[in-house]
Amino acid sequence: MQHHPARLIAKKRDGHELTTAEIQDLIGGVVDGSLGDAQLGAFLMAVCCIGMSPQETAALTLAMRDSGRVLQHPRVARPKIDKHSTGGVGDKVSLLLAPLVAAAGVAVPMVSGRGLGHTGGTIDKLAALPGYRTDLSPERFGEVLEACGYAMMAPSGELAPADRRMYATRDISGTVESIPLITSSILAKKLAEGIDGLVMDVKCGRAAFMVDRDDAFALMDSLCAVGRAAGIRMAALLTDMDHPLGLALGNSLEVAEVLAALEGQCPDDLRDVTLALGTEMLLLAGVCADAETAMANLQRLWRDGVARQVFRHNLELQGGDPRVLDDANALGRAPCVVAVEAQGTGFVADVDPLRLGQIVVDLGGGRRQPSDRIDPHVGIVLKHVLGDPVRTGDVLAFVHARTRTDAEAAAARVLAAMPIGEERRKRRPLVQQRMA
Ligand code: URA
Repeated sequence: MQHHPARLIAKKRDGHELTTAEIQDLIGGVVDGSLGDAQLGAFLMAVCCIGMSPQETAALTLAMRDSGRVLQHPRVARPKIDKHSTGGVGDKVSLLLAPLVAAAGVAVPMVSGRGLGHTGGTIDKLAALPGYRTDLSPERFGEVLEACGYAMMAPSGELAPADRRMYATRDISGTVESIPLITSSILAKKLAEGIDGLVMDVKCGRAAFMVDRDDAFALMDSLCAVGRAAGIRMAALLTDMDHPLGLALGNSLEVAEVLAALEGQCPDDLRDVTLALGTEMLLLAGVCADAETAMANLQRLWRDGVARQVFRHNLELQGGDPRVLDDANALGRAPCVVAVEAQGTGFVADVDPLRLGQIVVDLGGGRRQPSDRIDPHVGIVLKHVLGDPVRTGDVLAFVHARTRTDAEAAAARVLAAMPIGEERRKRRPLVQQRMA
């Protein structure tokens, strides 16, 4: 490093603004190892406590983006727009949205992550599709994008490598919850995809990264400002994560929900969030003049099966078995399925997404440690949502498990996560705020 690391760390600690050259030097040190683990931890803690100006956050984001390869897609003529969600329970939107938006003439180069904890990752959901490959080379990623309008890839070590070391260090140093660090971590990886625009789905609620609405708003604001400073078009929606999205929780169960949705059977909340995000993507791409036209186009492409055809094309290009489109049983099934029955009569008073997400993890459907293996077939399928009237004995949900013992333990916990009350509660609005 050109600067003395301790001096830069102390400068941040004392509340001064770092220059772009100093930030670039620090990120160089992250990548070549000349910034030691203790120094990186101290720097991250200083940022976490003091914060960063928008200029510093933009410089950090660009330095992290440029720490690796930045993809370019010269043969793709369409506008390249991606969507990123801060993560939640039952959030399978990307699997539906990418083919839908591609069907409308936008290119969607999507590099997605694996899930950790109760929030599922798109890459884990795709792994539940037999044969589907997400370990694409950047060249193959570009070819698939050109051929069918969207491509899905797991992050390779080549894209924004600084983030890997920084994220791992944040994870063990109490520095995950910092808006400049979250902003730069998300955007560095997204900018490396070679996109023209990004729509952020910032989730807010008990199962979201940002539980509090003001924090979610601040993150949304920071992401939009820094993305624009980095030269891409940005829009963001603040959406509810105080209730699971859709009815299926767990990787292959969620894929089955997506396959049914592509055929028109889609839970209302999943449809509404997908269409709202898709509308923003079409507007950013400039392929529709206004939101009404964008929404109507997407509804038609969905209803007429065009999105499903694009999904099939992508599935074939990425090695997936297209038989799943005609028979969801080809996804496989957990050996033991148990019904969870209501113990009283009244209304579903809560569907706690955090508790349900944790049950899915404990069934083996998510990771506690980055190295954990996932069982794609386990999970929960809800039969009722918040505010539904139910009677004693009605099925609230099905638990899919590896063993009967697992299923029964999970069923008892699902019952606690879905209490029955006398008062009919309404769900919070799905889309709570828009920034564009
Ligand atoms: N997702 C990321 O990629 N990085 C963060 O810091 C938080 C969420």
